[in-house]
Amino acid sequence: MDLEKIRRQAYAPYSKFHVAALAISDVGEHVGTNMENAAYPEGVCAEGAALSAMTTAGGRKLKSIKIIGPQGVSIRPCGGCRQKILEFATPTTVIQCQEADGTLRKFSIADLLPGSFGPDDLT
Ligand code: THU
Repeated sequence: MDLEKIRRQAYAPYSKFHVAALAISDVGEHVGTNMENAAYPEGVCAEGAALSAMTTAGGRKLKSIKIIGPQGVSIRPCGGCRQKILEFATPTTVIQCQEADGTLRKFSIADLLPGSFGPDDLT
C-alpha cells in the first residue's frame, strides 16, 4: 500500500494540509484521508476517516494507526481524534506519528490522552 500516494488524494483545498491514516484492526487494513468543506470546522480528519472505514468493515479492535502528513512537519492527532482512537484502542495499540525528519514516533493512547474517559467508564 502506498500511503503517501493516498495522502496526496486527500480533499483539503482550504488548509492544503494533506493527511493520511492507516489503521490496522482485527479485520484488516483501513485507510482514511482528511476531507474538508467550505464550512471550515466541519471537516473530517484522516484518523476519523480511517476509523470509520474500520468500523464499516466490522473492525472493533485497533492494533495500530499510522498517521502521515506533509513533508517536514510533525503530525499529532487532534483532541477529538485521540478520543476516537481511545474508543477502539487497547494498552498495546501503537500510534505511529510522522516526525518532521520523516521518521515515525510511537505513542500509546495513554501517552496521548492521559486521564481519559473511555468506554470502560460507562459500564
Ligand atoms: N488533520 C488531520 O486530518 N489529522 C491530523 O492528525 C492533524 C490535522 C487535518 C485537519 C484539517 O483538514 C487539516 O489537517 C489542517 O488542520
